Amino acid sequence: MMLGKEAPETRLQRSKRVMNISQEKIRPIQPAEIFNGYVAANVAHALQKIGFFSLLASHDRMTRAEIATHLGCDLARLSALLGVSETLGYLTFDTEERVSLTTSGEMLRDQIGYFTWCIGGYGDFLRHLGDLASDPQLSWQPLRDEGMVALGADQCHRSWMEDILFQVMDELSFSRIADLGCGNAGRLIALATRYSHITGVGIDISSHAIQLAEENVRQHYLENRLQMIHTNVLDTLLSDAHQATLADVEVVSSFMMLHDLYSLPEIWKVLFDRLRSAFPRAKYFLFADTVRTPSLNSLAHLPIFSLGYELLHAYMGVRLPTREVYDEAFTKSGLTIEKCLAFGAPATYLYLLRV
Ligand SMILES: C[S@@+](CC[C@H](N)C(=O)[O-])C[C@H]1O[C@@H](n2cnc3c(N)ncnc32)[C@H](O)[C@@H]1O
Repeated sequence: MMLGKEAPETRLQRSKRVMNISQEKIRPIQPAEIFNGYVAANVAHALQKIGFFSLLASHDRMTRAEIATHLGCDLARLSALLGVSETLGYLTFDTEERVSLTTSGEMLRDQIGYFTWCIGGYGDFLRHLGDLASDPQLSWQPLRDEGMVALGADQCHRSWMEDILFQVMDELSFSRIADLGCGNAGRLIALATRYSHITGVGIDISSHAIQLAEENVRQHYLENRLQMIHTNVLDTLLSDAHQATLADVEVVSSFMMLHDLYSLPEIWKVLFDRLRSAFPRAKYFLFADTVRTPSLNSLAHLPIFSLGYELLHAYMGVRLPTREVYDEAFTKSGLTIEKCLAFGAPATYLYLLRV
């Protein structure tokens, strides 16, 4: 008999205890859910790609045939897509066979940027996770569609980040902005449209993103106020190639790109000093990024986005900072954190820093 001590745990008790603990954490996603989720994610992306969500936003209720005509789609294939979307609960048909979005369909439409990012931007990459793991020589770069990554980021911005951004920018006085890693220039266009006195410059390393940005700027008739530069941001920091263009910039922004520079330790050490020299008149840095969630493994419910974001960046060899890392880096380099706001997406923050 053991006095004052608990009896040793049997193997059965231990395994029950461990099972209970792991059940408190994320429940395993059942194979059927994974399978259907994968199909549903592709269907969501397809609906966006053919322009279905935009069409339904401007027309009330339409039949399959009307939709097929408007979007230039094959009626049989479109009907299959709409049928699956109905099964998934995103669409409903009325007695006259006219389609409309359900509340879940509207939620999906609002979050479509995640699917543009995941399926459109990283779909090939995700399909090659096994090959990439077995063959370290295999490059992930041709497997990523940078235009779709940029479009996904822009859609997320328009859905729920823009209001938060305007809330911050409405209080600032500035006349010129530079956006580093500008993607399709969606943020610059939103700012230039709201603040009619400002000019801006967008910089991006991806030729595809810059092509989309230039087209986007043209479509908004902003060519005389927004200029795009196709280059590595580091070239603007380490050389004076674009000195004249950047001289009068008062706000330096970067949305969803800073982690790429954090991953280059030599650059990261001097980044903010270099930014100050490259942008001598900068009053504010405005940075937004998704950070690593240290507790992801123990969350009861996985949020959208984080798992894919962290997995893909691990594959790309990009170290992701936590929020604490950002706070410390900004403060240590003499920047004042005027604001740090939750920016809509999971683990994503908008920092307004006074230079
Ligand atoms: C996730 S996207 C975000 C796009 C845009 N800022 C937005 O939020 O909608 C990141 C962008 O940063 C760009 N980028 C990454 N590293 C860069 C670098 N060193 N110089 C310039 N652009 C870079 C990518 O090409 C991509 O367009």
